Amino acid sequence: MIGGVQLGLLAACVVLFVPMLMAGWHLSRNKMLFFSGALFITLAVGVHLTPYFPSVSGFASSFSSFVVFDHRDSCINLVNEIVWDLKPKNTSLEIYDKNWDWVNSGKVSACEFQKLGKSDASDLLNGSWLVVAGDSQARLVVVSLLRLVLDEQRMDSIRSDLFKRHSDYNIAVDEIGMKLDFIWAPYVSNLTHLVKKYKVKRNYPDVLVMGSGLWHMLHVNNASDYDVRLQSLKNSVVSLLPFSPELGTNGPVTGSVSIRSPHLFWLGMPMLINGMLNTGEKRGKMNDAMWHAYDKALGNSKLLRQTGGPLILLDIQSLTWNCGPRCTVDGMHYDGAVYEAAVHVMLNALLIESHQRL
Ligand SMILES: *[C@@H]1O[C@H](CO)[C@@H](O)[C@H](O)[C@H]1NC(C)=O
Ligand SMILES: *[C@@H]1O[C@H](CO)[C@@H](O)[C@H](O)[C@H]1NC(C)=O
Ligand SMILES: *[C@@H]1O[C@H](CO)[C@@H](O)[C@H](O)[C@H]1NC(C)=O
Ligand SMILES: *[C@@H]1O[C@H](CO)[C@@H](O)[C@H](O)[C@H]1NC(C)=O
Repeated sequence: MIGGVQLGLLAACVVLFVPMLMAGWHLSRNKMLFFSGALFITLAVGVHLTPYFPSVSGFASSFSSFVVFDHRDSCINLVNEIVWDLKPKNTSLEIYDKNWDWVNSGKVSACEFQKLGKSDASDLLNGSWLVVAGDSQARLVVVSLLRLVLDEQRMDSIRSDLFKRHSDYNIAVDEIGMKLDFIWAPYVSNLTHLVKKYKVKRNYPDVLVMGSGLWHMLHVNNASDYDVRLQSLKNSVVSLLPFSPELGTNGPVTGSVSIRSPHLFWLGMPMLINGMLNTGEKRGKMNDAMWHAYDKALGNSKLLRQTGGPLILLDIQSLTWNCGPRCTVDGMHYDGAVYEAAVHVMLNALLIESHQRL
């Protein structure tokens, strides 16, 4: 239900504006004060009584949410709230059915997140240019996204190209005019380079998903260096944007109406299950303490929307943590279901960001 604060705000507006409208009909100051007072009391009584009359409060809440309130910001913050349900399918082979859904709680349910089918996803992405840049986690997200919009036959035919190690991949899905690039960018510096390139070309994708960290952790193993790299990525991203984050949606800095903002996402790092990592070097360098230092660097860099930055988090950390050890064979790369969930998180965030409802 809509909170009392919001109803209160609505009431305050009515108390303020109705008498002002009446003033337009030449009421005296005293009469205005009288109307204000009477309205205030009526509304106050109304607000306090509504909880006792379910139908009234239902009406009041739908009315006030329709008129005044936009859940955009709060729903973006809740879009990663996903729970898992692992059902044993064949216990002797340790095979599980992995089902996920958004948390069934009032606040999250009110956002009406939904798993998009092929046709809804195609509608949403119709005519778009998407870029996913990063390491193998990013490649797995691309697989899940394509699995959603392509039929099985086409998916089978591209699989070998898609999985060429350490290479870029491009595909045009002509039926929906969608262009998708995967860019192999194992280090944050590769991402910064990419963003700078878009800036120079004055051309950038509609949706840009970026994420890297694991390579740096293994090969550089220095969280403060990671922090420095993330901050420089953040600066590049902010300078790419036609809207500076501080200005919000108040207006384009350059004054051009044709300028649009790209939708920007950060693909978080997965939880690492140390005992399952497949080399001694990984188990040594990619330990819990180092993981947390890297995670802290991400917070520190203020790259993410939740710390005032430009990128919306696709929370692979919480997805992998909640799915758990049964969802990975090497403690680092997880089952398709995890990346499928991440894709649906992204699509729902896109729906919110673009003010669309299906
Ligand atoms: C599990 O898999 C094994 C080997 O394929 C098979 O023999 C067994 O019947 C399966 N059990 C179930 C419950 O499906
Ligand atoms: C994509 O959009 C174009 C025009 O904007 C439309 O003609 C076409 O039917 C759409 N395709 C899908 C699959 O929605
Ligand atoms: C990514 O960055 C590293 C270090 O800066 C560099 O050595 C490598 O060539 C870059 N890789 C790609 C694919 O751009
Ligand atoms: C880690 O990176 C920071 C920042 O780049 C650098 O100043 C520091 O010397 C590095 N530490 C080690 C042990 O290499």
